[in-house]
Amino acid sequence: MKLSVAIDGPAGAGKSTIAKMVGDRFNLMYINTGSMYRAITLSALEKSISYEDVDGLCELMNDLDMEFQNDELILNGENINNKLTLPDISANVSNYAAVLEVREKLVHLQRKMSEKYNVIMDGRDIGTVVLKDAPFKFYLTASPEERANRRYNELQRKNIDVNYDKILEEIKKRDYIDSHREINPLTKAEDAIEIDTTSMTVDEVVNVISKHISSNLDRIIIKRGNDIQ
Ligand code: DC
Repeated sequence: MKLSVAIDGPAGAGKSTIAKMVGDRFNLMYINTGSMYRAITLSALEKSISYEDVDGLCELMNDLDMEFQNDELILNGENINNKLTLPDISANVSNYAAVLEVREKLVHLQRKMSEKYNVIMDGRDIGTVVLKDAPFKFYLTASPEERANRRYNELQRKNIDVNYDKILEEIKKRDYIDSHREINPLTKAEDAIEIDTTSMTVDEVVNVISKHISSNLDRIIIKRGNDIQ
């Protein structure tokens, strides 16, 4: 049995930064599931496959091999991480992530990873679908304005020219699509701990999560029969 930690929440809530840091503290493999949806979007856009072309997407996915190395997604042997946060991908990914066949394929892959490694996984449906039985679940939120601000600063640091109002608009649009789609919409799992990060520093959030894991880890290991390895 492997240990798993699920982190869900809307775009820009700080999930990936925080999951990476908590993963380092507890020696867990960090799986950024958003980057998997982004990788499919990138490949589909490069090949001009629309999100409505389900057959085309299935064919495309059959040829895609994904694995994580040092927190980064490797697609068919290539590190494509610097392309995944480009505005064009962000603007289109929600549509591809709403396709049933895309979700089935990626949920299957994510579960396989969680059977092989101790993981901390972030996304939208981790606590509700992918790792329903995870002993640790967290749901991170922040106001749309604060989230847009974080994305704006992140892109500026990468020297990508962006407009704050446009980012805010896209975040709101993405929130709407992610939480209203028919299949596995973004919702908090009943047993997830909700943390509003709007006025918290990254370290504060990491400490809250780490404290919760540390103080419950022994109990979880005993409950699962001491067989977490
Ligand atoms: O976390 P992110 O912004 O990189 O996610 C990109 C998109 O992928 C987002 O619009 C929602 C979607 N997504 C999803 O539907 N399910 C996940 N587990 C992770 C991401």
